[in-house]
Amino acid sequence: MNNLRLIIIGLLVPSILMIPYSILTFYTDFANKNPDPFQITVSFKNKSYDAVEGKKAFEQYQCMDCHAIVGNGGYFAPDLTNVYKRTAGNDALLANFMLLGVVSKGMPPMKDRGMNEEDSYRVVAFLKYANMLDTNGWPNSGSWDRDGSLDAASPEKLNPRNMWQAVTGILFFNLMIFAVIIAYEREKEAKV
Ligand code: HEC
Repeated sequence: MNNLRLIIIGLLVPSILMIPYSILTFYTDFANKNPDPFQITVSFKNKSYDAVEGKKAFEQYQCMDCHAIVGNGGYFAPDLTNVYKRTAGNDALLANFMLLGVVSKGMPPMKDRGMNEEDSYRVVAFLKYANMLDTNGWPNSGSWDRDGSLDAASPEKLNPRNMWQAVTGILFFNLMIFAVIIAYEREKEAKV
């Protein structure tokens, strides 16, 4: 076998094998599993508010000056990505909480900033949506609780059943390196 052919095989075979492998990773890990924000609603007084208007209200009242969503925003106050889960999906509780605030701990009463009940439910719809985001397991061990300790949720462990992905990746990589080295050595021998 000549060297060029060896190199081509060494590079092409793993590359071709990588195609279905890459497609597979899209299906298992990266497929967009996020819900449609227009479909995520909460109701208040027989009206329903969706997550899109919720995001507008969330921006209008500048929650992100202090809070973060999926790690983006302020770090003065707890990350709100999963706050909807932490308050057990209790819409009224969450709406009231932001209207009244906790002055002593630095959470301003949003009603003092012009927020009405409708807006508070809009924001709840957004927080409900944020909680449904496919964040690929983030935050692994829950976000920080108000007292500074971690949520009770235990961190996600590396699943040994997924190890084949790492193993095949390493094998393909080695195969390519070996092919190039062998080709190089043969080239040298041929010259001698
Ligand atoms: C000036 C900074 C600031 C702004 C602006 C602010 N918050 Fe807060 N918020 C805080 C602080 C500080 C806490 C933590 C209070 C505590 O320790 O009890 C908090 C707590 C919360 C909590 C409870 C979090 C938890 O994990 O228990 C929610 C929900 C919340 N805020 C929602 C909002 C929303 C929604 C907005 C915008 C409408 C907003 N906050 C705007 C400072 C802020």
